Amino acid sequence: MVLKVAQRGLIPPFIVMEVMRAANERQAKGEDVFHLEVGQPETGAPGPVIAAAKVALSSDTLGYTEALGLPALRRRIAEHYKDRYGADVDPSRVVVTTGSSAAFMLSFLAAFEPGDRVALANPSYPGYRNILLALGVTPVTLPAGPDSRFQPSVELLRRAGGPLDGLIVASPSNPAGTVLGASELGALSGYCADKGIRLISDEIYHGITYGRQTATALLTTDDAVVVNSFSKYFSMTGWRLGWMVVPADLARAIECLAQNLFISPPTLSQHAAIAVFDCRDELDANVARYANNRELLLDRLPQAGFDRLAPADGAFYIYADVGELTDDSEDFCRRMLTETGVATTPGIDFDEERGGRFIRFSYAGATGDMEEAAERLRAWRH
Ligand SMILES: Cc1ncc(COP(=O)(O)O)c(C=O)c1O
Repeated sequence: MVLKVAQRGLIPPFIVMEVMRAANERQAKGEDVFHLEVGQPETGAPGPVIAAAKVALSSDTLGYTEALGLPALRRRIAEHYKDRYGADVDPSRVVVTTGSSAAFMLSFLAAFEPGDRVALANPSYPGYRNILLALGVTPVTLPAGPDSRFQPSVELLRRAGGPLDGLIVASPSNPAGTVLGASELGALSGYCADKGIRLISDEIYHGITYGRQTATALLTTDDAVVVNSFSKYFSMTGWRLGWMVVPADLARAIECLAQNLFISPPTLSQHAAIAVFDCRDELDANVARYANNRELLLDRLPQAGFDRLAPADGAFYIYADVGELTDDSEDFCRRMLTETGVATTPGIDFDEERGGRFIRFSYAGATGDMEEAAERLRAWRH
């Protein structure tokens, strides 16, 4: 008898993870690989985080925590909003999650019904679209190109056609690295308030910018879900810890969902993460390295023939228009990896419509790797 496979599980892959697997297989065969595909810092967690983890290992039983997270961590996150943005956040609104990935799952479940329509920029982080699809929610993609700095705008929302239930924004964004300034975010949030659209603001690349100021949606509205993570600026990717600040009307639903879906976020990581907010020097040194890598690639990629690059205001990505070379970015990236050892992510991961003509470079790795990768690409293209 043929057993059923649920349609909602048949979502597209997260292609960057598949590229990473191919790159790792190549590395395991002894061939060299330059990891410009995956968006993760090459650094580990700051020293005081490791020290706090060691203390917790020997002094705590590491049982479950409360579903919404350790009270001390929730208070420390609330303080972070005061220190960083001057925003008053009640710790009861802070929900600690298993990476921001779990925050998306929880907030989408709490805020959207199957069949709801949720807008997001095309290109966007693939998890948004694919998690929405798995939940039976309809992603409404806004064609965001260079004219809107690859970001959603009120104009694009007006042209979306039909009513919307949600809007997901990310600033700095992945893959384009572009920032929504306070007035742009305010305009989007005002539009959402007028139309009864739930705003989800992904702020996980805050702290990693190169001049343009980021803004938090917390200062423009009390109705948004604001998502953040320890994975990027805080350099704790594999600790699988993130958080969100939730509006009052979603708080209880999110708590019940968190209890039932996850019981609690990882306990060891939570104890350790309390220390990370006092590691600004170490974390800002990482950002200085990203800034160097960015300069290096913005200078060298055009010499390798990649000269149509998105503005790269923040995060650690450069989104390159390679439409003159290919309309099959997956094949292009595969060839690049095989022929040069440089792993990059095909744009099709972020934009099903136009992504065949784009690729994304991540410069979160070591500067030496960026130099060597740029040189190999120059040689490959000449
Ligand atoms: C924009 C964006 N949001 C969310 C995530 C998920 O990160 P995590 O689950 O590690 O917090 C990523 C990961 O790359 C991302 O780029």
